[in-house]
Amino acid sequence: MCGIIGVTGRASAVDDILSGLRRLEYRGYDSSGVVAVTSDRLGVVKRSGKLDRLSEALGTDVLTGSTGIGHTRWATHGAPTDDNAHPHLDPTGRVAVVHNGIIENYRLLRAELDGAAFASETDTEVVAHLVARELDAVDGPDLLEAVRRVLGRLEGAYALCVLSADEPDTIVVARQQAPLIVAAIDGVGLCASDVAALIEYTDTCAALLDGQIARVRPGSYEVFDRNGDPAQAEEFTVDWDLSAAEKQGYEHFMLKEIHEQPIAVAETLLGRDDGAGRIVLDELRIDPAELARIDKVFILAAGTSLHAGMAGKIAIEHWAGIPVEVEVASEFRYRDPIVTDRTLVIAISQSGETIDTIAAADHARAQGAPVVAISNVVGSTLTRSADAVLYTRAGPEIAVASTKAFTTQIVACLVLALYLAQRKDRAFASEVSDVLARLDELPGLIRRVVEDDTAIRAAAERFKDVGYTMFIGRHAGLPIAYEGALKLKEVSYLHAEAFPAGEMKHGPIALIEPGSLVVAVAHDGHVFSKMVSNIQEVRARGASVLAIGTESSRAALEAHADVVITVPDAPHELATPVLTVLPLQLYAYYVAVLRGADVDQPRNLAKTVTVE
Ligand code: G6P
Repeated sequence: MCGIIGVTGRASAVDDILSGLRRLEYRGYDSSGVVAVTSDRLGVVKRSGKLDRLSEALGTDVLTGSTGIGHTRWATHGAPTDDNAHPHLDPTGRVAVVHNGIIENYRLLRAELDGAAFASETDTEVVAHLVARELDAVDGPDLLEAVRRVLGRLEGAYALCVLSADEPDTIVVARQQAPLIVAAIDGVGLCASDVAALIEYTDTCAALLDGQIARVRPGSYEVFDRNGDPAQAEEFTVDWDLSAAEKQGYEHFMLKEIHEQPIAVAETLLGRDDGAGRIVLDELRIDPAELARIDKVFILAAGTSLHAGMAGKIAIEHWAGIPVEVEVASEFRYRDPIVTDRTLVIAISQSGETIDTIAAADHARAQGAPVVAISNVVGSTLTRSADAVLYTRAGPEIAVASTKAFTTQIVACLVLALYLAQRKDRAFASEVSDVLARLDELPGLIRRVVEDDTAIRAAAERFKDVGYTMFIGRHAGLPIAYEGALKLKEVSYLHAEAFPAGEMKHGPIALIEPGSLVVAVAHDGHVFSKMVSNIQEVRARGASVLAIGTESSRAALEAHADVVITVPDAPHELATPVLTVLPLQLYAYYVAVLRGADVDQPRNLAKTVTVE
């Protein structure tokens, strides 16, 4: 979950690292640091707190050098203090390390370094000690070989960047279950956790595979396997540009990304119909006939992606007629899920790097199940191991609270549901073309909602101090109730929970008292009248109700709710969640702003969760 970056071959390396860290800050932001080779010695500056503190410190504690590495941290081992901030050095200060992941056997390794003085409580520092010891041995190896030897002793997950004062223009990097990319441009070598940090310099990168190690030098990189033999990393090109990763006048990334949803959804739908009513996936490394045999689907994901999967389940069962289970990825591999070669796993992950989702998909694949990934990041770990990929073409999502990734994930699920329906001979080409053509209306409808948010702002103003909000929904409204509650708690820190509306009577309704707030997601459709009954039940007990509905249900809702916010009727009922979530994204955003919360970087969270 931490972000790492290394630059060699630029006079401005420290500035470049700082600006790369800004783009990686969403991976963790409780401390940061940078180390550079300055006149054959290592200079380090690190600070607890947000990156601005490091930036200020670098203003006074001037650090120069053409080679350096930097880190922005989400604490696992050791509190977010200056001492625990990365980089970590060996006791002589000749070797520096930054790390994303967890070295699980670090206590054992520390104990083996009998008597060594450690400056931090982290699992990472021991790596710097071990590399330095290898380098100090008589006939000690070069940095690459020293790191390779140390890797053989590490257990756990890591993306590592290592610098030595004795090889001033070399950065050695290694990957095991944590993302790491390398790139080379004219006279400059680069490495980072992900492309967001490097798009300023290049759109062509290479992703290291597990067990690979690379030596990055000015203008080049060489990749080796765990035995030290030359190896190939996976090259890929990204079509994001720099402006996509900047705020472009918006006060927060979250608001910008909410407003980018029309284009993100349009891009995700683009070119899905091959002209003959057949759906086009982005990458297909699986025999389509194999998909025709599928008799069970697992959707595996975490956080917001899980909620998109819940909407996907409804569409797949409806169109493809295959039973679907949606499961929290972190639970899946620790029980005994029934998986066969006729089970399809759909792994949904914006980043493609969430460790639980990757591990769950790997667990299913090991039992013979094909895996389809829905992801937003080309070249990410999940997309490389999957048998097929459907990309959400949302562009970089920087705000920790996911918005445009969510709506594009639902759209991708709809497309995949239609694809499976075709494989199962349950949909004619003409029907698929017809549904896809109707989905093309979505971007325009989304624009109408996000561009007129007056009523949503007013609702946020009215309810901003309500300490507990209950979200309820049914059918396609239920995933949106879950997502609405998650958005609110993530960015405003207000307590929010979601329940299937029909479950209210089995317990949650006991929480309702005069002054309670219930957000009811009640779009027009076959469960609408049941939602109206549930709204009446909570109002009868004194709750205020904020109803999110569709235009054709407006009049009916106004008779029962305190505040009604509607979105246009969707071109298909299964696409309704793409619209009903929008007011709830904006509601969470405005409540957070009004409460003075740090919208883009909420406390304790990180965007990409690469540790279990
Ligand atoms: C974190 C983020 C969420 C995201 C979840 C899953 O919790 O804060 O916004 O939904 O991870 O991430 P993924 O990249 O797998 O979709």
